[in-house]
Amino acid sequence: MVLKIDNLKKYYEVAANALFGGGDKKVVKANETLSFEARESETLAIVGESGCGKSTFAKVLMGLETATEGSITLDGRDIGSIAIEDRDTMTVADIQMVFQNPFDTLNPSMTVGRQIMRALEIFKIGNNDAERRERMLVLLDLVKLPRAFADRMPRQLSGGQKQRVGIARAFAGDARIVVADEPVSALDVSVQAAVTDLLMEIQREHKTTLLFISHDLSIVRYLADRVMVMYLGHVVELGSTDQVFSPPYHPYTEALLSAVPIADTSVQKKHIVLEGDIPSAMNPPSGCPFQTRCGWKSKVAGGLCEKEVPPLRILAERPSDQMPPVRRRIGKHGTSHQNRGRITKRAPRHWGARITGKAKLSSPK
Ligand SMILES: Nc1ncnc2c1ncn2[C@@H]1O[C@H](COP(=O)(O)OP(=O)(O)OP(=O)(O)O)[C@@H](O)[C@H]1O
Ligand code: SF4
Ligand SMILES: [Mg+2]
Repeated sequence: MVLKIDNLKKYYEVAANALFGGGDKKVVKANETLSFEARESETLAIVGESGCGKSTFAKVLMGLETATEGSITLDGRDIGSIAIEDRDTMTVADIQMVFQNPFDTLNPSMTVGRQIMRALEIFKIGNNDAERRERMLVLLDLVKLPRAFADRMPRQLSGGQKQRVGIARAFAGDARIVVADEPVSALDVSVQAAVTDLLMEIQREHKTTLLFISHDLSIVRYLADRVMVMYLGHVVELGSTDQVFSPPYHPYTEALLSAVPIADTSVQKKHIVLEGDIPSAMNPPSGCPFQTRCGWKSKVAGGLCEKEVPPLRILAERPSDQMPPVRRRIGKHGTSHQNRGRITKRAPRHWGARITGKAKLSSPK
């Protein structure tokens, strides 16, 4: 196990009435109890609507923010409460990030080669500039950029090329974990697949743990080994990509999936509209965070959804001989979701043994 997150919380204090300068403080519960583990060389996708706390988690993991509560353990070392400036070189090199927008993350007045060599210097790699220069050129090869790009300024690069430099920097110090927060969404559609594939290729070669944050469920299906679904700072469910994306679905995952186009027209799909906005992280609902928008809530007896957070649905892994044929990582983007994503009327199972029998739980209309 490379990474273990235990009961992690990140609350932000904000002025309740900032506009008029005063009033009480309010608390934004950006991450509310995150607990999960990530393994060596796996790709764990983190999905969920805007504002559910994905980037907040990435910032806490990187040490750009410190956790309010809970722990982050990297290779057995507890790092959750250590800010990036207090982390040792190894920890900083071990957790790296590929940012959404390569335009903001490169220094505009430094050549591409210098920026990569600067990262190597920070990670204490190479004894002198000559050694670092050689390693930098190898990193350019790794991200499939011509070596002549070492002398270019960032403004002379396209968005996709800039993101390749960002990837080279992230892998410069042999990171254990790379967090990619929407790494291609700011890029032109024509280069998105190539940059994603490059990232996956390097991740596999280096056996890096990749935390891939994305809104794009069709890409997630194609590249992730496991998927973690988040809602309002909670982990809703966590399991292998095949399991999360096949029935019986979690009600929230089902709603997210229903918005994804499916290539195969023979698949019957019910379109579930997520009604209403995501509730405010300042004033989350009681019980299940999804209860204000869930189509299944009225079918659960005893108003349980309003009273208790349902148990986290962690899907046990199926033995490999029972797994459906692997469609991921073959062919082009998009082919993987054929024949998948059927939305059925099976009951949500995430309450487990608490709710049994058809009388208590049936499909919403
Ligand atoms: N520095 C901050 N101060 C106060 N609130 C914050 C701060 N940063 C984030 N938040 C709030 O925390 C919540 C989670 O934000 P976060 O950026 O983690 O969401 P996200 O899942 O990355 O969304 P997106 O998909 O849009 O990038 C939001 O309600 C956001 O407004
Ligand atoms: S706990 Fe209730 S409200 Fe929440 S997802 Fe399950 S059925 Fe829906
Ligand atoms: Mg974000």
